[in-house]
Amino acid sequence: NTRVLTGITTSGTPHLGNYAGAIRPSIRASAQAGVDAFYFMADYHALIKCDDPQRIARSRLEIAATWIAAGLDTDKVTFYRQSDIPEIPELCWMLTCVTPKGLMNRAHAYKASVDQNQLKQLDPDDGITMGLFSYPVLMAADILMFNANKVPVGRDQIQHLEMTRDIAQRFNHLYGRGKDYFVLPEVQIEEEVATLPGLDGRKMSKSYDNTIPLFEGGAGAMRAAVMRIVTDSRQPGQPKDAEGSHLYTLYRAFATHEESARFRLDLEQGLGWGEAKELLYKRIEQDLAPMRAQYAELMARPDRIEDILQAGAVKARKLSSVFMSQLREAVGLRQPA
Ligand code: TYM
Repeated sequence: NTRVLTGITTSGTPHLGNYAGAIRPSIRASAQAGVDAFYFMADYHALIKCDDPQRIARSRLEIAATWIAAGLDTDKVTFYRQSDIPEIPELCWMLTCVTPKGLMNRAHAYKASVDQNQLKQLDPDDGITMGLFSYPVLMAADILMFNANKVPVGRDQIQHLEMTRDIAQRFNHLYGRGKDYFVLPEVQIEEEVATLPGLDGRKMSKSYDNTIPLFEGGAGAMRAAVMRIVTDSRQPGQPKDAEGSHLYTLYRAFATHEESARFRLDLEQGLGWGEAKELLYKRIEQDLAPMRAQYAELMARPDRIEDILQAGAVKARKLSSVFMSQLREAVGLRQPA
């Protein structure tokens, strides 16, 4: 069987980028025969970016409810909360001890923070925690703990997957003695999605505050958000460049090939931005509207979500506790029984 695994950081409200980049592909993957899926709420990762306990709790609920409302079969998939698996931080420490610091120095997120500091003429390390610096090691632990073969994510996570492979190889090399403990995971990216742009055209991201929330605020909020997406100053009747347009990029992530080709032609033939936005909103709603009621029901029953996550943790720990004992023996923390 193929193991598929992915996680979402519980520091904000799930948005279209999370949905198209991770939630929808992960649900599709889990529905295939011969796939064992592991999907989780990355709440340890959330502590790196967010020191508001209420926000973390709320985000966890929203992300879990979104995944389920979008069609996740929680009986089939192992669906859990990262912080319910104590073997993950334990493995993270083992991996930390074999990860070259130089590898982490190259991480995009860390480098971006250093660059920001330099621009502002601050100390390069200003505001950078060890959590941010070691972020990719924790992510490697998530993936390697369950020996995932495939990891469906958005394009922004490619480097983290490369680092995971580097770290796994290093551990295998140091401790394997002819036996590979870790599988090298492969990234799985939907070409039509890649990186979804946000309201301002930059990557849709919690950190840029440019996201379009999936369910928060209902259909009205969705429509209002779509109407705020930046466009150029071309008027109705003037031909528009579909490739360069964020509306087209977003539309493509939701529509079929035929629908996208039609939308593109319409733009090139002078469809006004206002009408194009209306079409985009309707296309997104076509997918999301059927999920709204269940999302609202789930949000009203945190106890049910808690039960589902607890059951998921039991399933996950059956594997992680056994594997962790093998790893403790591999590195010499315990004697083989
Ligand atoms: P996070 O929480 O930032 O994002 C969750 C998922 O959504 C995808 N995504 C996007 N895809 C397309 N366009 C966008 N604008 C966009 N924004 C976000 C992300 O690529 C991701 O797939 N480190 C991870 C969480 C994580 C994880 C893991 C993922 C922790 N451990 C192990 C996979 C495997 C993160 O912060 O994603």
